[in-house]
Order: sequence, then C-alpha cells, then structure tokens
Amino acid sequence: MLVSAIASVALFAAGASAHFRLNYPEPRGVFVAANEVNFCGGYVNAVSNRSTYPLSGGVFTINTGHAGFTVGVLLSTEQNPNSWESFSLNETQTFVRDYAREEGAGTFCIPLDIAGANIPGAVDGANVTIQVVFEGGDGNLYQCADLTLSSSFTTPSSVTCANETVSGHSESSTSTAPSTSSTSGSSGNSGVGQVQYLSGLTAAGSLALAGLAAALL
Ligand SMILES: *[C@@H]1O[C@H](CO)[C@@H](O)[C@H](O)[C@H]1NC(C)=O
Ligand SMILES: *[C@@H]1O[C@H](CO)[C@@H](O)[C@H](O)[C@H]1NC(C)=O
Ligand SMILES: *[C@@H]1O[C@H](CO)[C@@H](O)[C@H](O)[C@H]1NC(C)=O
Ligand SMILES: *[C@@H]1O[C@H](CO)[C@@H](O)[C@H](O)[C@H]1NC(C)=O
Repeated sequence: MLVSAIASVALFAAGASAHFRLNYPEPRGVFVAANEVNFCGGYVNAVSNRSTYPLSGGVFTINTGHAGFTVGVLLSTEQNPNSWESFSLNETQTFVRDYAREEGAGTFCIPLDIAGANIPGAVDGANVTIQVVFEGGDGNLYQCADLTLSSSFTTPSSVTCANETVSGHSESSTSTAPSTSSTSGSSGNSGVGQVQYLSGLTAAGSLALAGLAAALL
C-alpha cells in the first residue's frame, strides 16, 4: 500500500489541479484527467454492462492526491441519464449522499446507503446511475457509474474497503512526503470519522459547491 501511495502522490504532484479517481464501483469509462471537469467525466451515455450494487449498505472508494476536499454523490433513476436534468427532481439536485468534507489525501472508502436516501424509483432491481462530485478547491470534478440495485447483493470481498491517508498537495501545502496512516472502521453511515456531514444542503449547482468549498477553506 505504501508503494501505491507514493505512486499516487507522484502522479498527482505532477499537476497543479486537483483530480480524483472513482475506484469502485467501476466508472463509465477509462479515466481521462482532462475530461474530469465535464459531466460524468466526459462519458455522456450510460453503459449497457452495469455493475450490480447493494441497495443498502454499499460503499464507494475514491483516490486522490489532493488534501482537503468535499465529495458528494448524485443519483439518477433514468436508464440513460445524459444531462444534469437527469440528476435533478423538481430542479433540485438529487443527492444520495450529502457533501462531506475530508482533510486528508489518499484512498477513502465511504458508505453509500442508497435505500436510506429514499429516492423515488431507487429500489431493488432498478437501474440507476451515481455521479460522484468532487471539489478540491479549483472547481468540480465528476465520475459516473451505471448500476443495477440489488437488495441481496453485498460489496464483493475483492473491493478493498479501507482508508489510507497520505501527504498530498493542497492550495496551502506543497509537502509530498509519503507518510501514511491507516484507519478502519464500520461501513455504516454512523461511522462519521473525519467527515463533517453537511446535512440539509441542497446545492443548486456547481457554483454552490464551489462557494461551499471556499467557505470551508
Ligand atoms: C437495465 O439496464 C440493462 C442494460 O442496459 C437492460 O438490459 C435492462 O432491461 C434494464 N432493466 C430495467 C429494469 O430497466
Ligand atoms: C464493461 O465493458 C467494458 C468493455 O468490455 C469493460 O472495459 C468494463 O470493465 C465493463 N464494465 C463493467 C462494469 O463490467
Ligand atoms: C415535484 O413538484 C410537484 C409539484 O409541486 C409535487 O407534486 C411533487 O411531489 C414534487 N416531487 C418531488 C419528488 O419532490
Ligand atoms: C473512511 O473515512 C470516512 C470519513 O473520513 C468514513 O466515513 C468511512 O467509514 C471510513 N472508511 C473506513 C473503511 O474506515
């Protein structure tokens, strides 16, 4: 894990801007850093080979070399959500998980309890798409994953669900010393850890998230 941590630090240290990767569930397409600023990371259409995903008690894992970020998750119940409107109900973005703030850089396995969000249509057997929204201080970044929800499916054991923080880069720090620390814990939504849940937030768009991040920095 230390080797991969160093590799990711080196990777991200090369660029000035923030990036993140959605490691699980599998995103729509191959990661293209330059397209991450675009809707679904540049992949407009849903894939036909969807990942089966737990209706309850799921997780998603991201990796970033950028210390200090907010991350939230939007959900659409459309078969082919290819516009921002697809991720909104009544002109309000459909959050399956409110924005959370994380101070570190590294790999994070974050609970995603879709059933608990009570989104109409996000039920057993439904095709849904999640859009992970990441803000590291210089604008929103996006990755999407097309899923089929299952009440009997649990996160595969092949998915590493652990948090590993590294010294990343941020607006206020240029340190790249690869010190690591690991934590483990429950995957329940009650395992708040370092994340502050910003409940009740219904950002109307990317500007709102950018404003939020600015307020927190
Ligand atoms: C879910 O998506 C798959 C692949 O696109 C499709 O074959 C299937 O009919 C869809 N299921 C539902 C319930 O819409
Ligand atoms: C879907 O198919 C593509 C092309 O074969 C593959 O690269 C990708 O891993 C598949 N995705 C899933 C979620 O199985
Ligand atoms: C959307 O707005 C309509 C009209 O105000 C309302 O009847 C409906 O319940 C709303 N739907 C949701 C999901 O909030
Ligand atoms: C990782 O950290 C986040 C918050 O920082 C926490 O919600 C989550 O439960 C942690 N995951 C593990 C596997 O400890």
